[in-house]
Amino acid sequence: MKYLTLHTGAKMPALGLGTWQAAKGEVAAAVTEALRIGYRHIDCAHVYGNEAEVGEALAATSVPREDLWITSKLWNNAQRPEDVRPALERSLGALGLEYLDLYLVHWPVQLSHAVMFPQSPDDLIPWTTEHALETWGALEDCVRAGLVRHLGTSNFSTKKLRPLLDNGSVKPAVSQVEMHPYQQQDRMREFCRDNGMAVTGFAPLGSRHRPAHQHQEGEPSLLDHPDILAMADRLGTTPASILLGWAVTRGTSVIPKSTNPERLRQNLAAADLELAASDMDVIAAMDMGYRFLDGSHWMMAGSPYTPENLWDGE
Ligand code: A2P
Repeated sequence: MKYLTLHTGAKMPALGLGTWQAAKGEVAAAVTEALRIGYRHIDCAHVYGNEAEVGEALAATSVPREDLWITSKLWNNAQRPEDVRPALERSLGALGLEYLDLYLVHWPVQLSHAVMFPQSPDDLIPWTTEHALETWGALEDCVRAGLVRHLGTSNFSTKKLRPLLDNGSVKPAVSQVEMHPYQQQDRMREFCRDNGMAVTGFAPLGSRHRPAHQHQEGEPSLLDHPDILAMADRLGTTPASILLGWAVTRGTSVIPKSTNPERLRQNLAAADLELAASDMDVIAAMDMGYRFLDGSHWMMAGSPYTPENLWDGE
């Protein structure tokens, strides 16, 4: 297993298991199988609605806690400072853990307290740097209380990360963003390298398991791209392994979701694949800044969120 060394010296396994869209009845079995075959990094979130099931698998494993890397994420309706610690404690309770290795601010989007998903624009509160710093301050208190070891963000631009680095007392350790050959995140990678942060990529396989309403018309397929297919063929492996091997060869971490034992095994093995420079060049040419998860669900008519102010043109 490859690891990324964070600024604290802690080691995060480069390949983790994603749990978004892993159904309640399947996720405990998937996590159990993943841990059995050698996964040590599990990526969770309150909003996935399955942390208690992940917790069942964690409770039953013989893998020592210190060998595991467990991430969760603060949902958008709990960013007010007084809501942060209770939200973290809810995730810890569901997962059956005393601490998380990493807690991420899930989106740079704020929802009213009682709202999980916005039904009207009134449920969406505009994002400000001042608000982000207040949330961050409450997260820092959770680090000091020993409830979490590292903090980070998800779906943030480098522009939104900057004030956290400049003003916070606990430095963000990880930026989790959508990343694959169509969205290579070069700017974020450079920013994180310059600031001693790690990048984790979600949707590395193109997230085909998203709910149907989130699929865009005519969206490109990653697993069927002719260059990826040809590379997999030549190297005697699968397209998914090429995509995951690409991410790890670039020094990033990656969290493919699977609940299928054969694909779990295949994905873990891909972390040891080292792509040749010539293959990396072919994939570099595939970038088109495409997002499978474009955040449009925050952008109903009248919403304060737009593609411009959510992604900051990055
Ligand atoms: P399954 O859980 O049945 O394996 P992403 O991580 O980009 O969000 O993609 C996850 C989706 O890709 C899930 O639908 C998952 O299905 C599928 N998947 C996971 N691993 C592989 C693989 N090695 N080959 C093909 N599809 C995969």
